[in-house]
Amino acid sequence: MNRFYVTTPIYYVNDVPHIGHCFTTIVADTLARYHRLAGDETFFLTGTDEHGEKIAEAAALRDTTPQAVADEYSQRFRATWEALGFSFDRFIRTTDPDHVRNVQAVLTRVHEAGDIDFREYEGLYCVGCERFLTDRDLVDGRCADHERAPEPRREGNYFFRLTRYREWLAEYIRAHPDFIRPERYRNEALAMLREDSGLEDFSISRPKSRVTWGIELPFDPDHVCYVWFDALINYLTGIGYPDAPDFDALWGATQHVIAKDILKQHALFWPAMLRSMGLPPFRHLNVHGYWSVDGRKISKSLGNAVDPLLMRERYGFDAFRYFLLREMVFGVDANFTEEALVTRANADLANNLGNLLNRTLNMTERFAGGAVPSAVAVGAPEAEVEAGARRAATAVHGAVAEFKFHDALAAIVAFASDVNRYLDARAPWKQAKREGGTAAVHTTLYTAAESLRWIALLLAPFLPEAAPRILAQLGLAASVAPGSLPREDARWGALAAGAPIARGAPLFPRIERADPR
Ligand code: MSP
Repeated sequence: MNRFYVTTPIYYVNDVPHIGHCFTTIVADTLARYHRLAGDETFFLTGTDEHGEKIAEAAALRDTTPQAVADEYSQRFRATWEALGFSFDRFIRTTDPDHVRNVQAVLTRVHEAGDIDFREYEGLYCVGCERFLTDRDLVDGRCADHERAPEPRREGNYFFRLTRYREWLAEYIRAHPDFIRPERYRNEALAMLREDSGLEDFSISRPKSRVTWGIELPFDPDHVCYVWFDALINYLTGIGYPDAPDFDALWGATQHVIAKDILKQHALFWPAMLRSMGLPPFRHLNVHGYWSVDGRKISKSLGNAVDPLLMRERYGFDAFRYFLLREMVFGVDANFTEEALVTRANADLANNLGNLLNRTLNMTERFAGGAVPSAVAVGAPEAEVEAGARRAATAVHGAVAEFKFHDALAAIVAFASDVNRYLDARAPWKQAKREGGTAAVHTTLYTAAESLRWIALLLAPFLPEAAPRILAQLGLAASVAPGSLPREDARWGALAAGAPIARGAPLFPRIERADPR
């Protein structure tokens, strides 16, 4: 049995879910659905990252406790993800008791391995980044990411001896070319590991005199664990580390999905931590680029973060999801505008796919009494459509394996165009007028309906709301069962003739215009 384990970053509880968090979660959800449909044993983990100074700071500003802030924002993420229909198997919180236990167990283990030592440290600290900055992180004396001046700090911290793992890790990344993908991020990780790159050990503790919101170090009760060391371990807790029966099997199938902002922690810290605690590395780290909105970086001060619930209300969540997956080349930055979403949804979903479904259903009512007819006069044009369906399946599977979701969707939509053209060329409205034309009309309509069945199944991981509705309108059971993802050699003609179609509201109505934001 194939296994598949996919994770998102766990999101900080100082922000509300926006397009950026939503995109990573859409990618993970799409992959989880794809693998379930392919019949693989699948686990999908998401959740919230709740400790650290940033949260304590937010709580102090609001005159409340960090726990109260964490509860409120974590619930907000969870409720949003549920409302959007994400199919996660666990929503983890770093305040969950099993996670706290695990972090302490890992700290003990890594300490015993001799990879943690105590040092005095002096430097410029950015609370936004939750770390000491180096010269490279500064622009005009301010943190380049958070645009705030860091604070000078001197304190005793425990350090994880990352530098001990530098050579091993560089070697591992070189020997496993797709460990970190796409390649540009692999190269970035290798650059960070170069001898002259200034790689340093990293601090894994904060003194309680300054921060108390965190997990206590098992070997020194005066310190709490640094939020990143704590957070990365969620990926183990989520699947029942250390003693769940299928932990090892799932861990071997781990696919982390992140954006480029947290590459260093995942590409360097995390594999070294795993090695230190005696676990093998994860399978792949998959890194995507950043979304900007209307050409600008998303920022709290601009207030330009896109609310996925609002997008769902305006355009339907599947249209939003379609746009994001179709527009961004995984690994490269992309820009979001509502105008582009509307143009894309109208062209691909309303005018192409929706139109194919509507005309097929209309003509089935008109020329076949409202039930899926039989294909009795199959010829070369039908064979060509069938070959197109198989090509689309091949393209989808190849693209998903390489995280090229835009290519997968393009292949499905291109197939829908081909079927529209086939319908235009066969012209059932003309075939029907010819003497003895019924067999030809029925064959044409069956071919279109069977194509739509393939399209719906191939689309199901990407458009989980629309796909079952397409199937339902074709008179098929609306559930998309595990194992039903068509491979290139799947049976063509599995759609049973005779089933009554069930035309409903148009699936992808044309969107008149983008709402002003
Ligand atoms: N808590 C850490 C992650 C710990 S994982 C062990 C964190 N949280 S975060 O809330 O800041 O989330 C960062 C992640 O959110 C990014 O890696 C990405 O998945 C997503 N995104 C946030 N803004 C984004 C964009 N503008 N564009 C694309 N994805 C972005 O870092």
